[in-house]
Amino acid sequence: MLKYRNILLGLAVAGALCGTAAHAAGPHGLGREALPEEVEAWNTDVRPDGQGLPEGSGSVLDGEAVFADQCAVCHGDFAEGVDRWPVLAGGQGTLKSQNPVKTIGSYWPYLSTAYDYIERAMPFGNARSLSADEVYAIVAYLLYMNDLVDDEFVLSKENFTEVRLPNEENFIADDRPDTPSVAQAEPCMTNCKENVEITARARIIDVTPEDAGVPEEDASETEESAAAEEPAAQEEQVAAAAPALDAGLVDEGEGVFKKKCRSCHSVEEGKQKVGPSLHAVYGQAAAEVEGFKKYSKALKSAGLTWDAATLDQFLTKPKGLVKGTKMSFAGLKKDGERAAVIEYLKSLTPTN
Ligand code: HEC
Ligand code: HEC
Repeated sequence: MLKYRNILLGLAVAGALCGTAAHAAGPHGLGREALPEEVEAWNTDVRPDGQGLPEGSGSVLDGEAVFADQCAVCHGDFAEGVDRWPVLAGGQGTLKSQNPVKTIGSYWPYLSTAYDYIERAMPFGNARSLSADEVYAIVAYLLYMNDLVDDEFVLSKENFTEVRLPNEENFIADDRPDTPSVAQAEPCMTNCKENVEITARARIIDVTPEDAGVPEEDASETEESAAAEEPAAQEEQVAAAAPALDAGLVDEGEGVFKKKCRSCHSVEEGKQKVGPSLHAVYGQAAAEVEGFKKYSKALKSAGLTWDAATLDQFLTKPKGLVKGTKMSFAGLKKDGERAAVIEYLKSLTPTN
């Protein structure tokens, strides 16, 4: 219901912007009702009873491959979780202990949540990129890693609701009289409070910044980057002297980057994610990206400059070169992938 109302709101705004007054409707005279097909396109949630599941299927084996490729950097090859990224398997029998390990296998009540969540939110940083078959396969693999199915299992729309998670029965409807529950009558949606009184305004309680414009930090950054662009003539000379890039390799490297690095790194100047922007990192000293505040001490004191050789070592095994780096990335084992991604990084540095 909430979702449906949001769509109406969105369409109402769109309608207002397009000036389609002829279709005006609803309490504010704006927009139009969403069409059933439009609601359908947004209504992708998957329910415990299987409602909302798309056609498709996937095997444990296929899931293992997709998982290794798209999820293992963070969640580990065996869903055990790398560093502090979430653990997705195991933990059975720990819920009553001091350190409960809550996973799909040990804690989650319904398998539909795994499907819905993965489809909607993962891989982190590149959500909604998986096909239905891939999600079925990954969920099958996670069931396998939680010892709930064998390695020949194939999960599909048809057998989905036959799979029950071990902790389901420990979830019960809250029937205390003062908590809204399914058992109670329709929830109140209009005029639920007798008196509405405005007790404070955002400006007064100081949650709205007073001065419009760029915050100081950003302003200084803009000045600096403008200053950095001045000696352009000099830069061009360097560019001319630098060895030419291999365009094919750059393209290939961009592909590797999208799959393996983009969830944590942007290549836009100034855009920080879990890791620093790699916009001009090639040729630069390590841990020097402006505006990235979360460098490890290890990288800051490594005394490295990023060139083809140091990047090659770092990307083979980050913790091998910089013990204690925060980059939770197992490494690119294929020489070709490393060479390509390094060429791509090189192409991003303006002087190259
Ligand atoms: C870049 C790191 C990263 C990658 C890659 C990634 N995840 Fe995640 N995953 C996370 C983070 C961070 C969370 C916690 C998100 C939150 O709590 O908002 C998470 C949460 C989850 C959860 C919920 C765990 C829980 O117990 O709450 C599942 C399931 C999951 N990921 C599955 C996947 C799958 C499947 C893939 C591959 C298609 C994937 N993830 C790829 C970082 C990642
Ligand atoms: C799971 C998140 C994650 C993934 C995936 C990841 N990185 Fe990183 N990366 C980081 C973090 C965090 C740092 C900062 C490390 C530190 O401070 O120790 C970092 C640092 C770096 C640095 C050093 C930057 C500097 O300013 O010195 C480079 C270069 C780099 N990553 C390249 C890559 C490449 C290329 C890939 C893909 C092959 C990749 N990373 C994948 C999180 C990630």
